[in-house]
Amino acid sequence: MKHLLDIDDLDADALLDLLDLAEDFAEVQKRDVPKVPALRGRTVVLAFFEESTRTRTSFDLAARRLSADVVNFAAASSSLKKGESLRDTIETIAAMGIDAVVVRHASSGAPLQITGWTDVSVVNAGDGWHQHPTQALLDCFTIRRHLGSLEGKRIAICGDIKHSRVARSNIAAFTKLGAEVTVVAPGTLLPPGIENWPVRVERRLDRVLADLDVAYFLRIQHERMNPALLPSDREFRLLYGLTVERAAQLSGRALIMHPGPMNRGVEVDAEVADDPRAVILDQVTNGVAVRMAVLFRLLGPGRFDDESAGSPDPPRRTDPSTPPDPTTPADPTTRVGAPA
Ligand code: NCD
Repeated sequence: MKHLLDIDDLDADALLDLLDLAEDFAEVQKRDVPKVPALRGRTVVLAFFEESTRTRTSFDLAARRLSADVVNFAAASSSLKKGESLRDTIETIAAMGIDAVVVRHASSGAPLQITGWTDVSVVNAGDGWHQHPTQALLDCFTIRRHLGSLEGKRIAICGDIKHSRVARSNIAAFTKLGAEVTVVAPGTLLPPGIENWPVRVERRLDRVLADLDVAYFLRIQHERMNPALLPSDREFRLLYGLTVERAAQLSGRALIMHPGPMNRGVEVDAEVADDPRAVILDQVTNGVAVRMAVLFRLLGPGRFDDESAGSPDPPRRTDPSTPPDPTTPADPTTRVGAPA
């Protein structure tokens, strides 16, 4: 795998392979030193041309926990502001000798375009309305951890389907792994051509809640939408929000999910976000392991095993003629499979 641009680049086996690999990295995260040397010497650039808190931080941590060097490219203070084109910006960054670029961009298709301008691996961290493949992977991972698998699970994705890259990538991933997906939204927030998507469409949330394994809520993407599409946040909550009363219709083992950032009291009531069935923070935690798996698949040595799970830094001596100081405590990270 050279790039990750779209969930449709992956078949079910490739999806499951990444989820299995992410399980290994979730184990790594529980260690005292949650770091492995797998990508030592590799450089990952985070090129976010659109705001992001969790996705950028998550990729940053994932790359560092694999011992890659990470460069955060801040679009707001870059030469883009001086009129440099996206192409020149990317070619300039790539000329500095990097291995991968993680891109978020407001234009659908920008990451694909970048693959034509450079030889480095490109990871799509969200492009316009189009795709957000690592969000889909972390959501599959979270569901699988809680419910065992996605096969036959009934999942409703509710809210602003039309403007959501999360909806597009999640529908593709969930259905590839055998889930039955229903989208719940007012007509104005459904995309044209929805009848060709592999989903059932429902206008009333109350009709589906009782049968769900997963209730997945999306943020209203105000920044991408014509305000005329929605009367008000209050009205939306009354018809499509997961209120306390609606949450009571969900079964005791159903999961409540949201990709964040969440508007408490709009898509999901504040109390419901803290319900024990809500796994919204698990999604965030799992994002790091899943992104480690993706970066490892793109840049790593093939198989993840105890050898690559060893010390992030070999024990170092400043002067080879000086014996190591016996009072220096052993490097705690050398305990697993460190090179002798
Ligand atoms: C989403 C995004 O930016 O696509 N957030 C995220 O990455 N966790 C969804 C959103 O902005 O609503």
